[in-house]
Parts: sequence; structure tokens; C-alpha cells
Amino acid sequence: MEKKKINIAIAGVGNCASALLQGIEMYKNSPENVIGLMHYDLGGYTPGDINIVAAFDVDKRKVGKPLKEAIFAKPNCTTVFYDNLLDYLVTVQMGAVLDGVSEHMSDYDEDRTFVVADEEPCDVVRVLKESDAEVLINYLPVGSEKSRKILCSSMSRRKSRIYKCYASIYRFWWWMGKEVYRKKGYQLSAIT
Ligand SMILES: NC(=O)c1ccc[n+]([C@@H]2O[C@H](COP(=O)([O-])OP(=O)(O)OC[C@H]3O[C@@H](n4cnc5c(N)ncnc54)[C@H](O)[C@@H]3O)[C@@H](O)[C@H]2O)c1
Repeated sequence: MEKKKINIAIAGVGNCASALLQGIEMYKNSPENVIGLMHYDLGGYTPGDINIVAAFDVDKRKVGKPLKEAIFAKPNCTTVFYDNLLDYLVTVQMGAVLDGVSEHMSDYDEDRTFVVADEEPCDVVRVLKESDAEVLINYLPVGSEKSRKILCSSMSRRKSRIYKCYASIYRFWWWMGKEVYRKKGYQLSAIT
């Protein structure tokens, strides 16, 4: 029986998303060179089993763009170590800005800050449903609590898993949320 791929949605097409996508493609295409990966094979799944199906951001240089372009758009500054990316057939969708963009960010040069797109937020639940996303990776900036809640509740309405990546100061809040979602029967995991 053919193994089912894992469908992943990404919230926040920033530097982490760029590194993740480049890494997936690099490791997928050169399995002999897996330095940097703790486990190439996890329960029978390898990097090539990850399918990116949806992405959300709020920056005008990323929203509406193909994902493979958006991960290299400013203000991202992750080293480009692998640019032979797939045509994901994923267009970055507009998220709800809420607290994802801090006021002080307007003090910085455009190359170093978020520039909010003049677009209406998409219907996140619909996009997650139509793309058949099973896992949502939360790469929103630290402090985006309202935005995170919207995404988590959208994902729970999809009855899917939530995978969250936050700086360690948020571990406690992550743990609190985890208990709530665990009681509802969802599977969660975290990296910090
Ligand atoms: N970069 C690292 O080395 C690193 C390491 C550990 C943890 N983290 C954490 O991972 C998360 C992502 O980090 P990063 O370096 O990719 O950040 P980043 O600033 O490069 O990217 C954040 C992205 O989120 C987008 N965004 C902002 N508000 C949004 C909203 N409401 N909806 C959708 N998108 C929104 C921004 O436009 C940007 O593209 C942060 O919480 C960070 O603390 C980062």
C-alpha cells in the first residue's frame, strides 16, 4: 500500500519557513547527506513524505505569491542554501493581522520589517479544509497570541493536529494550550 504523505500548512512564511522548505528539498534530494537532521527516518517517514499544501502570511511581498518565491522575499534573510524548490502549487494566503505586527516595526526600513498587504484575510478554515491540511506549523512572530488563537481554533475545527514553534518564554503558555487541546482529543507536539 502506498504511504500517505503528510499534508502541512504553514502560518508565517518567514525565515523558519524558508529554512524548513529548503531543508526538506535538500534532504529529500540528497539522502546521502543528512548532516543536521537528527533522524532522517521517523517511523517510516522521511523528508520526501512531507507535502506543503497551504501557507498564510500578511506581508505584501508574500501574500498572493507562489510559496517557492515567497520564502525568499524580504524581509526574510535566511541563508539560501538550496533553491531547487518544487512548484508547490501553493499561493500564500492573507492571514488576519491582529497582533502579528507590532507598532514599533514601522520604525524600520522596509527590508527589515513586515509590510502589511492591503488584502482581506482569507477564510482560514476553508483553506485548511480544501487543501486537506493535517498539520499546521505555527511560525508566527512571538507575541501573536490573538493570531495564534484564530489559527488554533481554525485547525481544531478541521479536527487536525497543531504543531507549534515558539521561543522558550512561551513554553508555559504552550503547555497550557496543550492541556486544553489534549482534553479535546487532539495530538500536539512542540519544539522551542
Ligand atoms: N528564526 C529562528 O532561528 C527561530 C528559532 C526558534 C524559534 N523561532 C520562532 O519561530 C517563529 C518564526 O520565526 P521566524 O524567524 O520565521 O520569524 P520571521 O519574522 O522571519 O517570520 C514571521 C512571518 O510571520 C508573518 N506574519 C506576521 N503576522 C502574521 C499573521 N497575523 N498571520 C500570518 N503571518 C504573519 C510575517 O510577515 C513573517 O513572514 C517565531 O515565533 C520565532 O520566535 C525562530
